Amino acid sequence: MGILITGANGQLGQELTYLYPGAIAMDQAELDITNKEAILGFDWTKINTIINAAAHTNVDGAETLDGSIAAWQVNALGIANLAAVAKAKNITLVHISTEYVFDGAKTGFYTENDYINPQGVYARSKAAGDLAAAGAPNHYILRTSWVVGKGHNFVKTMLKLGAEKEVVGVVTDQKGRPTFANDLAAAIKHLLEHNVAFGTYNFSNSGHVVSWHEFTKAIFKAANFNCQVLPTTTTTFAAGKEYFAPRPANSALDLTKIQATGLKIRDWNDALIEYIYKETKK
Ligand SMILES: NC(=O)c1ccc[n+]([C@@H]2O[C@H](COP(=O)([O-])OP(=O)(O)OC[C@H]3O[C@@H](n4cnc5c(N)ncnc54)[C@H](OP(=O)(O)O)[C@@H]3O)[C@@H](O)[C@H]2O)c1
Repeated sequence: MGILITGANGQLGQELTYLYPGAIAMDQAELDITNKEAILGFDWTKINTIINAAAHTNVDGAETLDGSIAAWQVNALGIANLAAVAKAKNITLVHISTEYVFDGAKTGFYTENDYINPQGVYARSKAAGDLAAAGAPNHYILRTSWVVGKGHNFVKTMLKLGAEKEVVGVVTDQKGRPTFANDLAAAIKHLLEHNVAFGTYNFSNSGHVVSWHEFTKAIFKAANFNCQVLPTTTTTFAAGKEYFAPRPANSALDLTKIQATGLKIRDWNDALIEYIYKETKK
């Protein structure tokens, strides 16, 4: 199987590159998905699968003028470029989406069939990317939430704060489940290897739905930190920030569809303990 990984330096891109040592892994400098000429000029003869891990993920930054342009370029137009090539050359396109395509107002888990209603610029650009990706006949779109891998992420931020501070305030009014990037990469491999029906699939780790506040408590417990976690609200957290994107209050994704393909999904707390062990022994 000839695999091209785009956005190879991101959290997911790094895990995919590790999981697929034989793949062609390109970072932004090597293959910019917004560059149509570069995409058209790429040698596709040995590629039958594109796994796109490239994205503009600065959610608050996307609310600025420049950030908005960049988010639409990468998350929408970039995906349209990949989908056009995938369609023309009969290539399978794997694309990663987000629970931000939902408004978060639902009670209970979001299924793949729920209506999308993206709220911020990043969310809208990602929703447009989903529609573009679906233009490739052979596509998998994986909707995911709260990604944690080798890069900038919430767990790393909290490990830093928890080591430095005695008290942190974390929001209680956004709930969801984390997704560890190595498990997301393994889920992609599972879909590809088992010739699962094309379409959209939710993926996060399994386990309890938690608020960021509860997640932080689990992080500090796993890291053996004594830092106290005080409850706060999104409104308080956003106060004074010049640019702040709306966040879904409910990010919980229903996993029934992907589990029905035979995928076993780890509880996020088990993945967290492993992640913190690796991070803290560095
Ligand atoms: N992070 C989350 O919490 C979260 C939640 C839900 C869904 N997702 C989705 O999950 C996927 C993976 O996220 P992630 O956390 O791995 O993201 P990430 O760490 O921000 O990685 C994204 C990568 O894409 C690269 N990139 C940006 N513009 C590009 C371009 N024009 N051409 C090629 N590469 C480009 C970036 O390169 P540079 O480093 O050079 O900018 C970066 O290496 C994304 O689709 C994201 O929207 C993420």
